[in-house]
Amino acid sequence: MQTCVCVCVCVCVCVCVWISIYVDHGDPYDYGKLPVGDLTITKITDRSPMHTVAHFPLLAEEYPVVYFIGGLNGYMLVEWYTDVLRMVAAHGFVVFGVDYKFPVFDDAEHFIKHNFQQDVELFFKEIDFLKEFMENKMSAKPVWNKIALVCHSAGCDCFLRMLRMNATEFTSAIFLEPFSIDALDPMPDPIPALMYGTQLAEEVAPKCSLPETDFNQFYKIWKCPRIALEVADFGHCDIMNQQYWKVCTDICARSNETRLDEYHRFIQGAISSFLMTTLQGRQDAITYISNITNVPVKLIEHQTDWNCIHSKRNP
Ligand SMILES: *[C@@H]1O[C@H](CO)[C@@H](O)[C@H](O)[C@H]1NC(C)=O
Ligand SMILES: *[C@@H]1O[C@H](CO)[C@@H](O)[C@H](O)[C@H]1NC(C)=O
Ligand SMILES: *[C@@H]1O[C@H](CO)[C@@H](O)[C@H](O)[C@H]1NC(C)=O
Repeated sequence: MQTCVCVCVCVCVCVCVWISIYVDHGDPYDYGKLPVGDLTITKITDRSPMHTVAHFPLLAEEYPVVYFIGGLNGYMLVEWYTDVLRMVAAHGFVVFGVDYKFPVFDDAEHFIKHNFQQDVELFFKEIDFLKEFMENKMSAKPVWNKIALVCHSAGCDCFLRMLRMNATEFTSAIFLEPFSIDALDPMPDPIPALMYGTQLAEEVAPKCSLPETDFNQFYKIWKCPRIALEVADFGHCDIMNQQYWKVCTDICARSNETRLDEYHRFIQGAISSFLMTTLQGRQDAITYISNITNVPVKLIEHQTDWNCIHSKRNP
């Protein structure tokens, strides 16, 4: 006699929806491949806490966020830096540059009277604002749990104070020719950072970086993972768009204007190498700044403390 045995086979179909951040697999010193769009966000029309300029890839993918502040504690207009910021965006980042006061030169009295003081809370408020405001403003999708702070000069004083207040929102930081008189106490649990200086700012009068407040001092108060670079022959204004470079070099030591394009290509690459590693998760990209044979300009200082073998933290 035959018995019929029923066997049930259950087939599960899993569909994984994977949040995958765009990764640039190219050489960071090449120009990024993504076309970039710009948006100006204003206090009056958009009710933004600060005047902000956004640069973002036009391809609909997910990108980490870069939050930039310029010199003089954010009084130096972000509009002076847009060429390099746009190049960084083309490597796959949504870049926001903020102006503490806009237009600052209409407000010179406030500028001087308040001794460049700023309300650091405002920088946090701007991030909260942008999270909502940027929905539906572009096809790029900003990944808000991957934010890097990038600052120039005394803008780094603001970001240092922000990180001391509450660093939980931030993944990594780049201090470009930083200035802060508050860079004294060790950072207790610092995020991965790149500290960067230029020879002319450090050595040639009128100097725009000062010892004990500069990139070396930031490096000193930091812990692994951290990298410090200082390039030869370039200066404090060279990161700026050419028309503003001219204004800035009336104040800071003047470099060779014929090398500005070369410098912009280098600095956008150094910034992007660090951001690809810390925000896009491309571990090998750090070698473009950690291994000096890969750096296309002359360096006069280089310190790498990246692998953290003796500490608990891994990059
Ligand atoms: C720090 O920021 C995070 C993220 O915005 C927030 O959830 C947390 O409450 C903040 N902590 C403090 C002490 O302000
Ligand atoms: C500036 O750089 C160019 C190209 O490298 C060089 O030919 C020129 O002599 C330099 N000028 C000065 C003043 O150093
Ligand atoms: C640095 O890069 C060069 C050229 O790419 C390579 O030959 C060398 O092994 C690298 N050094 C280290 C320590 O990785």
